[in-house]
Amino acid sequence: MTRSPTYFIKTYGCQMNERDTEILAGQLGVLGYSPAGRDRDADLIIVNTCAVRGSAEEHAFGYIGQLKQLKDANPGVRLAVAGCMAQEPGTIAWLKRYADHVDLVFGTHNLHELPRLLDEVEQRDEMLIDVWRTAGEVVEHLPSRRNDGVRASVNIIYGCDKFCTYCIVPFTRGKERSRDVLPIVEEVRALAAQGYEDITLLGQNVNSFGHDLNPPQDLSDLLAQLETIEGVRWLRYTTSHPRDFSQRLIDTIAASSKITRHVHLPVQAGSNRVLKRMNRKYTVESYLDLVGRIKAAVADVSLTTDIIVGFPGETEQEFEETLRLVREVRYDAAFTFLYSPREGTPAARWEGRDPVPNSAKKDRLNRLMALQYEISLQANQALVGREELALVEGVSKKNDMVWAGRTHSNKVVLFARHPQDDLIDRFVPVRISGAKTFYLLGEQIGGPLARPSSRDRVELPLL
Ligand code: SAH
Ligand code: SF4
Ligand code: F3S
Repeated sequence: MTRSPTYFIKTYGCQMNERDTEILAGQLGVLGYSPAGRDRDADLIIVNTCAVRGSAEEHAFGYIGQLKQLKDANPGVRLAVAGCMAQEPGTIAWLKRYADHVDLVFGTHNLHELPRLLDEVEQRDEMLIDVWRTAGEVVEHLPSRRNDGVRASVNIIYGCDKFCTYCIVPFTRGKERSRDVLPIVEEVRALAAQGYEDITLLGQNVNSFGHDLNPPQDLSDLLAQLETIEGVRWLRYTTSHPRDFSQRLIDTIAASSKITRHVHLPVQAGSNRVLKRMNRKYTVESYLDLVGRIKAAVADVSLTTDIIVGFPGETEQEFEETLRLVREVRYDAAFTFLYSPREGTPAARWEGRDPVPNSAKKDRLNRLMALQYEISLQANQALVGREELALVEGVSKKNDMVWAGRTHSNKVVLFARHPQDDLIDRFVPVRISGAKTFYLLGEQIGGPLARPSSRDRVELPLL
């Protein structure tokens, strides 16, 4: 008897890429493949790439380069490159020139063609490149292989039409396409029946959900509908664009016990001139007004953001306006990035004419991070004494007598572990007893919540 073939998928980038990996894995499962723990044990290796910043691309290029050794040692192994980088002409040129050990290249718009593409690879000697320039219709009912925990992600909208001038995503993911409400509701219902209690709705801009459907739909209504599904305990969504964050959505979150009180609201910059050049289509004033309305309506909201420093032409004074905004909003956490020019975007052309010197970029990033760390610590200290539910993710990496979990607002919380208890994937009540910059300390104050009654998980949910 021949053994079943195995695969290994290396995933870079955002949660949408992770979700795509689950769909690739699901299709491979249907073809009879099983997962390999390591790349060197796999018959098929797929590199699911991210193009959002130069650093992400360099990691993927480095890994693709390393795979040559595996291919030389075992010419039977099949190597595929997928994801956002595959949508870029520059990547294709690089692969042709430096990576002829790669067998297959496909993009973000034809994931669902994987079975056919694998067949076709066997018919030819040279690299098969099949990348669609534009997105087709949304494809439903693809198999997927999710992990065994209680957290699951569900796509609600693909692509992005915002064209922020620094960003490659609209080019790699295409125009905005919402899924219909019905298949989303069915998917979440099926997930809840299988014991997934923590559901995250995904999109590059979830606030635009449904605006392209006929009749138009709205994220608030979708959330309100999903909230009624039994077995769903926590409902998250990411990412929100500040421009489309409606008062209705704020009111829906405020009225809900399941929708996360964590709002990730990327601001990118705190200067109106920079925001305009970024094509973000909001002002510092309108952003602060939105933040004020969210804070007023949603008690104990946790706010996080993304900020880019060193956008072409950013002056010291404009950067200081970003610091001022950070001091005013007092985010719980911020993801901070050095501007990275992306070929084909308008800002990459400006970078040629008016770059911020590297030393200034790094100095600004350090100052911004120092300020944010101070604020994060204070925000966490303010939670001491509060009772929270922690969803236990596992044993702490540093100390095996400690559980690591996450609160409703997505903060890491560490608390003592009794070796006889198995609390992984359970919701446990804790009282916050201490605070650090990047996590909370807690004390368990009760047993884990009962699991929902139904939990008949099948190996390969066909969703
Ligand atoms: N759709 C999300 C963001 C997706 S990309 C949104 O609009 O909020 C995640 C983050 O990467 C962005 O928020 C931005 O801060 C950062 N980013 C995107 N392009 C970048 C670039 N060229 N250089 C540096 N950071 C970038
Ligand atoms: Fe990129 Fe802007 Fe779209 Fe976010 S909203 S994915 S930053 S273009
Ligand atoms: Fe990266 Fe593509 Fe996501 S560029 S951030 S993997 S949409």
